[in-house]
Amino acid sequence: MGKVIAVDGPAGAGKSTVSKIVAAKLGFTYIDTGAMYRAVGMKLLQSGKTLTEKNLTEIVDDIEIKLDESAKVFLDGVDVTKEIRTPEVSKLASDVSKYGFVRKKLTELQREMATAGSVIMDGRDIGTQVLPNADVKIFLTASLHERARRRFEELKAKGQAVTFDAVENEIAARDKQDSEREIAPLAKADDAILIDSTNMTVDEVVEKILELAK
Ligand code: DC
Repeated sequence: MGKVIAVDGPAGAGKSTVSKIVAAKLGFTYIDTGAMYRAVGMKLLQSGKTLTEKNLTEIVDDIEIKLDESAKVFLDGVDVTKEIRTPEVSKLASDVSKYGFVRKKLTELQREMATAGSVIMDGRDIGTQVLPNADVKIFLTASLHERARRRFEELKAKGQAVTFDAVENEIAARDKQDSEREIAPLAKADDAILIDSTNMTVDEVVEKILELAK
């Protein structure tokens, strides 16, 4: 039986950064569930349609999302790894993730992906809903200011024109929406270990997770 590590937490906490490293060190497959919600948001954006239940149903009925070994994201066969990382798509991903039928479809896909050997999966509801029997559950967080600082540096390095305040506001609004939605909100599972990375380096967080996974 493969092992499962679930990593949940708010935007910009460093989930994907540390999960990728832990996956490489343990020989696990990394599964970025946020990328899947981003792919749905991206498809809505590409369609030029407004966000209504009808439009979203059509999109979800006819979508193919694939993640490869190097964490590349394919939407209907096209590599959208870079395009899904804009603030616009972040917002849309959070918006579409409120819908039960979207969550149901992606949750099924995620559970299926988790059967392929040992995995580390990150998102908002992995420990609470998607894989409640995970061997190790982590809730990774950091102060809003620190998360915004990290995301701001990341976007700046990619050459995106953003201000710190805009990034901080975007993250705060998204966390609020993700935490307050009715279905599978962002939450710490009772049996998840809380890691506050505000004053920790990437290596320190990785070490901590490796220790817990032993
Ligand atoms: O992890 P991320 O920032 O790429 O996620 C983008 C959005 O997708 C996030 O704001 C809410 C949604 N999401 C979710 O609802 N459930 C997950 N397991 C992962 C992401």
